[in-house]
Amino acid sequence: MQTLAAGLSPLGLKSTISIVILLASAALASAYAGEANVPYVPTPQVVVDRMLEIGKVGPQDYLIDLGSGDGRIVVTAAKKYGARGFGVDLNPTRISEATENARQAGVVDKVAFYQRDLYATDLSQATVITMYLLPRVNLELRPRILDLKPGTRIVSHDFSMGEWKPELHEELEAKDKYGGSGGRSDIYLWIVPAKVAGTWQSELQVHGKPVPYEIAMQQQFQTVSGSVRVGGRTAKIENAILQGERLTFEFTADVGGAPIKHQFNGRVDGANIAGTADLSGPKLQSRMDWSATRTTRAASTSGNNALMGAAVSPTH
Ligand SMILES: C[S@@+](CC[C@H](N)C(=O)[O-])C[C@H]1O[C@@H](n2cnc3c(N)ncnc32)[C@H](O)[C@@H]1O
Repeated sequence: MQTLAAGLSPLGLKSTISIVILLASAALASAYAGEANVPYVPTPQVVVDRMLEIGKVGPQDYLIDLGSGDGRIVVTAAKKYGARGFGVDLNPTRISEATENARQAGVVDKVAFYQRDLYATDLSQATVITMYLLPRVNLELRPRILDLKPGTRIVSHDFSMGEWKPELHEELEAKDKYGGSGGRSDIYLWIVPAKVAGTWQSELQVHGKPVPYEIAMQQQFQTVSGSVRVGGRTAKIENAILQGERLTFEFTADVGGAPIKHQFNGRVDGANIAGTADLSGPKLQSRMDWSATRTTRAASTSGNNALMGAAVSPTH
C-alpha cells in the first residue's frame, strides 16, 4: 500500500507537514483560547534530556511533572539521574502508560503517577517542577510557584511565565516533535526567589566601632533594588543578584569619614540573612560575618504575590 507521504510530491509533503504542525499548534491554541485543560502533545526525548540538564536534576531532587502524559520526564529523571518524584495527569490512559513506562525502566521505587488535577496537586515537596502546558496555565500557576521553597527550579517546555523573566531560555530543534514532523522547542528555567522586599536591620564593626545599617529592598520576582541608610546618608544598592535563597549586592557609603565599598553576600532564611560582608576603602580591607533581620516586610511587585497590595507590615 502506498503511504500518504510516498504519494506526495516534495512540495505536497512539505504542505502536509505544515498542516500537521498547524493542527498541533491549533490544538494547543484552542486550549489557550479558553478550554480548561491542555491537550496531550509529548515532549520529544531530546527536549526532555535537555530540560533535565538545564534543571540540573540530580539524585537529591524531587521532581513533579504537571500534566505528565506518558511519564517520560519523570521516568527519565529517575533512570538517568536517580531523582524521585511523581507526575499527575487527568487522563487515566496516560497514567496507565506512564506507570507501565516506569515499570519497564525499573524505576517504580522512585516514581509514581496519579490521576489528579494539576491545580489540586500539592507542590510543596518539589525541588524541580517540569511542565509542558500553556501560557495561560503557566500564569495561573505562577502565584503558587512563587510561594514554593526558594531555590525550587521550574523548567517549562515552550511556554513562558509572562513578565517573570527566566534565568535561562534556550531554543533547540527537535526532529520528533509533533509526532515526527519536527519543530523548534523553547526551554525556560526559573528559580523561585526568596522574598526579600522590606526593611532589614544590620550592624557591622567598622574600625572597631558598631555601625548600624538599615537596608530597604524592593523586589520584582528575582530583581532586587533599594537603598542602604548608614551614617545619616543613603546609598543606592547596586548589582543585586537574587538566585533562590542566595542574595548578593553592593553599595558605596561613607563610614568613618571615607568612602567604603560594601559587598554583601548571604543566604536568606525567612526574616534572616546570614553571610559575609567585604569592605574595602582607603584604610580598610576586611571580610567579616554579616547578618540582617527583617523588621518590616513589604509587598513584592510580582503581580500576583499574596502580599500584593498589602501595606508594609511587621515581619513574622
Ligand atoms: C502537552 S502534554 C505534556 C505531557 C508531558 N508532560 C510531556 O511533556 O511529554 C499536557 C498533559 O497535561 C495533561 N493535563 C491537561 N490538563 C490537566 C490538568 N488540569 N491536570 C492534570 N493534567 C492535565 C494532559 O492530559 C496532557 O497529558
